[in-house]
Amino acid sequence: MGTPSGPSRRRCIPWNRLLLAVSLLTFWTPPTTAQLTIETVPPLAAEGSDVLLLAHNVTKNPLGYAWYRGERVDNSQLIASYRVATTKGPAHSGRETLYPNGTLLIQNVTQKDTGSYTLLVTKDDLQTERQTGHLHILPMLPRPVITSNNSNPWEHQDTVVLTCGPETQNTSYMWWINNQSLPNSTRLELSEDKRTLTVFNVTRNDTGPYVCEAWNPVSVSRSDPFTLNVLYPVAQPSLQASNTTVIEHEGPVVLTCLTDETGISIRWFFKGRSLLLAQRMTLSSDNSTLTIDPVSRQDAGDYQCEVSNRGNSSRSDPLSLHVKYKLTPESSSDLSAGAIVGIVIGAMAGVALIGALVYFVYVISTRGASDQRDLTEHKSSDHNHSQGHSDSSPEKFLTAATKKHYSHKSTSLDSIPAGTMDSTSYSVS
Ligand SMILES: *[C@@H]1O[C@H](CO)[C@@H](O)[C@H](O)[C@H]1NC(C)=O
Ligand SMILES: *[C@@H]1O[C@H](CO)[C@@H](O)[C@H](O)[C@H]1NC(C)=O
Ligand SMILES: *[C@@H]1O[C@H](CO)[C@@H](O)[C@H](O)[C@H]1NC(C)=O
Ligand SMILES: *[C@@H]1O[C@H](CO)[C@@H](O)[C@H](O)[C@H]1NC(C)=O
Ligand SMILES: *[C@@H]1O[C@H](CO)[C@@H](O)[C@H](O)[C@H]1NC(C)=O
Ligand SMILES: *[C@@H]1O[C@H](CO)[C@@H](O)[C@H](O)[C@H]1NC(C)=O
Ligand SMILES: *[C@@H]1O[C@H](CO)[C@@H](O)[C@H](O)[C@H]1NC(C)=O
Ligand SMILES: *[C@@H]1O[C@H](CO)[C@@H](O)[C@H](O)[C@H]1NC(C)=O
Ligand SMILES: *[C@@H]1O[C@H](CO)[C@@H](O)[C@H](O)[C@H]1NC(C)=O
Ligand SMILES: *[C@@H]1O[C@H](CO)[C@@H](O)[C@H](O)[C@H]1NC(C)=O
Ligand SMILES: *[C@@H]1O[C@H](CO)[C@@H](O)[C@H](O)[C@H]1NC(C)=O
Ligand SMILES: *[C@@H]1O[C@H](CO)[C@@H](O)[C@H](O)[C@H]1NC(C)=O
Repeated sequence: MGTPSGPSRRRCIPWNRLLLAVSLLTFWTPPTTAQLTIETVPPLAAEGSDVLLLAHNVTKNPLGYAWYRGERVDNSQLIASYRVATTKGPAHSGRETLYPNGTLLIQNVTQKDTGSYTLLVTKDDLQTERQTGHLHILPMLPRPVITSNNSNPWEHQDTVVLTCGPETQNTSYMWWINNQSLPNSTRLELSEDKRTLTVFNVTRNDTGPYVCEAWNPVSVSRSDPFTLNVLYPVAQPSLQASNTTVIEHEGPVVLTCLTDETGISIRWFFKGRSLLLAQRMTLSSDNSTLTIDPVSRQDAGDYQCEVSNRGNSSRSDPLSLHVKYKLTPESSSDLSAGAIVGIVIGAMAGVALIGALVYFVYVISTRGASDQRDLTEHKSSDHNHSQGHSDSSPEKFLTAATKKHYSHKSTSLDSIPAGTMDSTSYSVS
């Protein structure tokens, strides 16, 4: 049922005529009339699209059509036949429509539909004519993705292979770097199928972005941009100061980290340690300048800046900041030089006076033999300045007082040399 062997079922056709027709079919050479042809529209179809297998030059008043999958007339491969009404065959998938003019429509094609299709036309004289057409279904290409065989290549060292994937058959590839077609470079090499791009001895200029495009006759698709993270050693930055010798509480000092590098971050170091930002310090938005305003004596010391990128970092040579400051406590207002000298002279006069008093007491006390032992004992044992004990002997009180004064004096004198050693200097303005 459903085969185009219709003539056997036609009434009024004697068997001898049918045999004659078959023999005619076998030996008859077609006249120079129109030749049945099959046109595939479109010739290359995208998966999911609809295609027509157009039957051209079909004989007038045909008795029927039959379409077969493949190149043979094989009933098991019958898609559809048409005589009075369409008859579906075992190869019908539900997507085929056979028109009365012999044309076959296949909807929503898949790559499995690629192949040959044979049309058998039964003419009104029972002769049959057949023709085979071909259908080629191409896939719709997915969006390609660029992958690299080295996500962190080092400049001047590594060779990177970029691949445009996934691999699909009969696909052409194209590449762009920075929105432009590939430059003429000996360091760039495309594979024969252009699916892989090799970048020899990468430089920081090879960062990209890279884009690849995959195309076949029915579709084209472009990748997202891909950026190569090329690592390189950064060059050493240098550090500059608006003034390396400044006076405490006066004017700002501005330290500037100088570097030619781009895409780097900057960190600051003070006396070899990460700088803790005090309230009087501000960094520029890119961290390249450090402003200290007002300057404090605590800011004296060695500064360094460090530039770093993803792979490498480099620190500047140290830069010493000298802060001149006055002897007076930070909290008090400026004292004149005369006042400072007066304080020093006063302290020294006090020390001299106490020294004289100690000598006077000592001379008096040596006259009392019993008291001398006490004083000797005190000198050899009392080194902790303790004043809380209940001993009320006058010699002990004076000794302690003297020691206390000397101790105070030595502290105030120490502050000057200590400040100088700490890369600051004492000054009187
Ligand atoms: C129909 O057949 C004629 C004669 O063979 C041929 O010239 C013509 O191109 C054919 N038409 C089509 C659409 O194939
Ligand atoms: C046959 O009919 C279909 C549907 O009407 C049409 O799309 C197709 O072009 C016709 N074939 C020819 C060869 O004209
Ligand atoms: C086309 O076929 C695919 C399976 O090959 C199916 O998922 C899809 O729904 C079909 N589309 C239409 C419009 O029928
Ligand atoms: C990437 O491929 C290139 C070329 O084959 C090779 O020289 C390089 O070592 C590869 N890199 C890695 C990290 O595998
Ligand atoms: C790729 O093209 C060749 C020749 O054109 C063809 O034989 C093959 O079937 C095609 N493959 C696909 C998946 O389309
Ligand atoms: C690259 O091209 C795209 C569109 O083709 C455009 O939107 C984008 O601004 C371009 N980028 C540059 C850096 O030229
Ligand atoms: C690329 O360079 C080669 C040799 O250096 C040259 O022959 C070729 O013309 C160049 N192509 C372009 C597009 O500049
Ligand atoms: C890559 O660098 C190596 C060593 O520096 C050199 O021998 C080689 O010629 C370079 N390759 C290219 C393509 O520039
Ligand atoms: C990168 O490009 C710039 C400007 O084109 C050039 O001055 C520099 O030398 C290049 N760097 C490298 C490592 O090729
Ligand atoms: C920076 O790069 C240089 C040269 O490749 C290397 O000697 C140094 O160890 C690197 N420094 C860091 C912190 O990675
Ligand atoms: C640095 O500051 C000191 C103290 O204010 C000043 O005497 C000196 O001229 C300044 N030097 C420069 C180069 O501005
Ligand atoms: C500046 O430095 C601070 C730390 O000191 C860091 O958190 C910040 O990200 C840096 N900013 C820039 C732009 O490098």
